[in-house]
Amino acid sequence: MAVWLAQWLGPLLLVSLWGLSAPASLLRRLGEHIQQFQESSAQGLGLSLGPGAAALPKVGWLEQLLDPFNVSDRRSFLQRYWVNDQHWVGQDGPIFLLLGGEGSLGPGSVMRGHPAALAPAWGALVISLEHRFYGLSIPAGGLEMAQLRFLSSRLALADVVSAHLALSRLFNISSSSPWICFGGSYAGSLAAWARLKFPHLIFASVASSAPVRAVLDFSEYNDVVSRSLMSTAIGGSLECRAAVSVAFAEVERRLRSGGAAQAALQTELSACGPLGRAENQAELLGALQALVGGVVQYDGQTGAPLSVRQLCGLLLGGGGNRSHSTPYCGLRRAVQIVLHSLGQKCLSFSRAETVAQLRSTEPQLSGVGDRQWLYQTCTEFGFWDTDPWHVLSVTQALGSSESTLLIRTGSHCLDMAPERPSDSPSLRLGRQNIFQQLQTWLKLAKESQIKGEV
Ligand SMILES: *[C@@H]1O[C@H](CO)[C@@H](O)[C@H](O)[C@H]1NC(C)=O
Ligand SMILES: *[C@@H]1O[C@H](CO)[C@@H](O)[C@H](O)[C@H]1NC(C)=O
Ligand SMILES: *[C@@H]1O[C@H](CO)[C@@H](O)[C@H](O)[C@H]1NC(C)=O
Repeated sequence: MAVWLAQWLGPLLLVSLWGLSAPASLLRRLGEHIQQFQESSAQGLGLSLGPGAAALPKVGWLEQLLDPFNVSDRRSFLQRYWVNDQHWVGQDGPIFLLLGGEGSLGPGSVMRGHPAALAPAWGALVISLEHRFYGLSIPAGGLEMAQLRFLSSRLALADVVSAHLALSRLFNISSSSPWICFGGSYAGSLAAWARLKFPHLIFASVASSAPVRAVLDFSEYNDVVSRSLMSTAIGGSLECRAAVSVAFAEVERRLRSGGAAQAALQTELSACGPLGRAENQAELLGALQALVGGVVQYDGQTGAPLSVRQLCGLLLGGGGNRSHSTPYCGLRRAVQIVLHSLGQKCLSFSRAETVAQLRSTEPQLSGVGDRQWLYQTCTEFGFWDTDPWHVLSVTQALGSSESTLLIRTGSHCLDMAPERPSDSPSLRLGRQNIFQQLQTWLKLAKESQIKGEV
């Protein structure tokens, strides 16, 4: 009966908050790294479930119209979906539909994470739907500009409606089965909109870290990063926030000095090339900003190279080396740790290279679709980084049917991740709230099913 907007202190993975600048590409690589890490452990889990489980999950393809709003255009494309029917009680059981966003969806999407973890309690069928133009769901003609006009949140929502119809037939799902949409970040916005636009099809939605308001200049991102760095609940402090400023001021000073200081900076930050050009200097600062923003955005997530607590430790010269270390040394160390875990030899900051990559129409089969997402931010959302994201979400209930939840020490879409023993009490409580809200909705659905039968 509702849209549930859960959100975090940290930003949304609505990543590409970069006009035409590369910096956030580091943020996207970080997001991909974390998703791949979580998905690979998900496959391991699938195989460890015992007999029968190895056949899970199933992959399928739906034939979708490229332009459902134009009756004379009959062109179609194949949209990928994943299914986990392991817990499904059959026909009348609820359907948990996880929507994909600006990246590919793997088998882990229906095996791990919150929707899959919730499925056994209600005997739900878990299905995930890859967003058009991302992953392998790319129409013929690829990422050429002429094709990209068929990429939008409106068309993605139309795909949800036709997928609802096709999947209901395919799995013989009863018309009284309640469909609950889930999504995180941009996909969270889609989940919320799907419920608001198609209440007759989508019974309720759980939207995690969903930035449902479009904004061109998104400077508030850094405000959230800054507040998070000061939050003692996650290992931040006033000193840590100040140390970040000191470290950045030092980088800027070295950039401005030119000559030997600049050459030393290149070596010390493992930068991929010389720092002479102003546009590349701006990219470098952007990459460092994305690194700090990324640590906040993915704080505490499995696969994240650094937590806020660890970053603050480095910047404040932890490890008993306080007297020799400076925030700048700590930042250098943080860069090395992040590059190492991303498997990158050096810190990339060339604007020309970034632009060349964005011009490439070669689809990227896994991970975030940079070119497509830039197109969507240009045509629909903005979100340009002057830079989280819960500031664009709805954090206060809009009414009794639209509840909201802010998980204070959470990070971007963390509630969607698999449960871990190390989860904070606020995250556990947040997940419990979502569970109870679903309990309420599904009880309502059950009551209306019974009434319908009578
Ligand atoms: C609708 O599709 C037809 C056939 O592909 C095409 O000629 C026409 O331009 C399309 N109309 C719009 C408004 O896109
Ligand atoms: C589909 O479900 C209906 C009951 O709603 C049942 O009678 C029918 O046999 C099912 N069809 C298939 C192919 O399983
Ligand atoms: C302390 O930090 C400085 C500067 O980063 C480094 O050169 C030195 O080796 C460190 N000393 C120890 C004992 O780790």
